[in-house]
Amino acid sequence: MFGEFDEMILYHAFLIKSMLLLLLIGIIIPFLSSDCAKSIRRARIYMFFSHGLLSMIAFSGLIALIFAKISLTIDMIMMILFFFIMIMLEVFKYKKILKGVSDKESCNKKARINSVLFGLINIAIIAGMVVYMVIQKNAVPVS
Ligand code: HEM
Repeated sequence: MFGEFDEMILYHAFLIKSMLLLLLIGIIIPFLSSDCAKSIRRARIYMFFSHGLLSMIAFSGLIALIFAKISLTIDMIMMILFFFIMIMLEVFKYKKILKGVSDKESCNKKARINSVLFGLINIAIIAGMVVYMVIQKNAVPVS
């Protein structure tokens, strides 16, 4: 049967894969231009998109949670925590890039380092969560 829950999870999974793509774009942004002001403007717009997509992921997850009447398991708590952590990391990334402006010489360098660092952390969180959920689903139930 392909009910509302499966449909919502399909949507949730699709949005999570799209987030990986968006994170990659976020990493590339400071490498596209040597004009730091331009990179910062782009990073700001990217942050809006990343927050939007993350909220869509959380919303689809919450709807699935309500449809399936799932109780708050450790997986759900982890996902909710990761949602907040990822949102926070995106803000920290933008703030760090902004801080780099004070030093015009290394502005680009700092923007690139922070972009790669925070982008990779978020990619690792998603990849880790995907692998964890696959292992959970394939786990042989005890008893
Ligand atoms: C408020 C936030 C979230 C809620 C309420 C939520 C809820 C859910 C629910 C109910 C499921 C189905 C679990 C099952 O099949 O037993 C699910 C699956 C999943 N969630 Fe979330 N989620 C949230 C955020 C996230 C985030 C931020 C990530 C990524 C880091 C994530 C990654 C996953 C993955 C990989 C699956 C498995 C999808 C599949 O079956 O293909 N979730 N989530």
